Amino acid sequence: MNTLPQIEILKKVSLKPYNTFQLDASAAFWVEIHQPDDMLKLMDTPVFHRETRYVLGGGSNVLFAQDYSGLIIKNSIPGIEVLSEDDGHVVLCAGAGVVWDDLVKYTVDRGWGGLENLSMIPGQTGAAPIQNIGAYGVELVSTFISLDAINLESGIPESFDRDMCRFGYRDSIFKTTQKGTYLITHVTLKLNKSPELNLDYGNIREVLASEGITKPGIRDVSMAVRKIRASKLPDPAITGNAGSFFKNPVISAEQFDSLRSIHSDIPSYPSGSQIKIPAAWLIDQCGFRGKRLGDAGVHERHALILVNHGKATGNELIGLAANIQQEVRERFGVTLEPEVNIVGGDNSLAAGAKSGS
Ligand code: FAD
Ligand code: EPU
Repeated sequence: MNTLPQIEILKKVSLKPYNTFQLDASAAFWVEIHQPDDMLKLMDTPVFHRETRYVLGGGSNVLFAQDYSGLIIKNSIPGIEVLSEDDGHVVLCAGAGVVWDDLVKYTVDRGWGGLENLSMIPGQTGAAPIQNIGAYGVELVSTFISLDAINLESGIPESFDRDMCRFGYRDSIFKTTQKGTYLITHVTLKLNKSPELNLDYGNIREVLASEGITKPGIRDVSMAVRKIRASKLPDPAITGNAGSFFKNPVISAEQFDSLRSIHSDIPSYPSGSQIKIPAAWLIDQCGFRGKRLGDAGVHERHALILVNHGKATGNELIGLAANIQQEVRERFGVTLEPEVNIVGGDNSLAAGAKSGS
């Protein structure tokens, strides 16, 4: 017997509990889906065809510039299923609505490696492929097998393997050519029972040593990542934020050499034949850390994190981000590209990113 709730389209729903910036915007129409078949039911309604649509997961990487005048489709498809298992690996499939960190804990608890460095990233599993989530030297792509999605134009279910997703740094086709075309229903990952641990990024080794751990396992790595994150990043339940607001810019070796000739202390990381520089450092150098414009602010401990101190609006945060983008461009000749998905508004930040790159 199917005990999942029927779909119900609601009107004028507050989005405040559904976005980690805690922005007080509303959606003209709202529906929550619990299974792929709900999409078929939804696609039979006039509202679906009449309104603009936006798929929402945990709302931890979105900024609502203003009230949303269309239909928000909140994805709550549950379930974790082991598809196959042998001595070395486990292949599992998770519903898009599974909280990402619950999936991480599920795998870490069973000793299945691959997701431990991605501990404590907010949001849901269905959004993880959108920007190929990454942290502490690991990206989703390293465990990714495939995803299932429904084409929102045709209603046809489709599967995408790793190559089809064209993953990059905070990027996939779902952020570019296929933006807004699909609703992801399930994600399939391959975990390793004898994983090689990634300990070289940031201060993971330092934290493990401080805990007296000399032979770490995946549970220890997960613990260390959680500790580091808790010390650096604001808790969105307390202070509204969406993590890094901009991507770290990737520039040519020539541009980097010319920047370093002026700013000898500029931090950098290799990124293929190019160089990645921390956006936080660029923003910090411009003096924005801890600054605020009304209730829109830059976190006092991390210059890449924009925060809502209480009653900021989406447009105020966009205004602050535009000031940051302009100062960084003027001072360093580098254009910052937003990582956060801006919903509504004139999207001038993304336009700025294009004109400067
Ligand atoms: P949402 O914010 O709801 O949506 C994000 C985008 O995905 C939107 O464009 C939305 O339309 C689309 N989308 C969501 N679900 C689906 C679906 N099922 N089908 C189709 N499209 C969908 N990110 C990192 O990569 N690394 C980090 O270390 C990291 N740290 C963070 C720390 C904090 C404190 C916060 C607040 C955020 C952080 N993030 C990080 C960003 C964010 O957690 C991730 O991008 C996450 O994957 C977003 O998941 P979500 O479910 O909240 O997606
Ligand atoms: N820095 C400053 N000032 C600051 C903060 C940092 O100058 O206020 C400099 C320091 O030199 C530091 C460097 O920036 O070494 C990098 O900072 P950090 O290690 O905090 O990482 P990040 O580049 O800011 C990225 C991801 C995070 C991810 C961490 C850990 C992006 C856009 N952000 O942050 O992802 O958790 O690395 O891997 O790639 C997110 O995407 O939302 C996110 C939080």
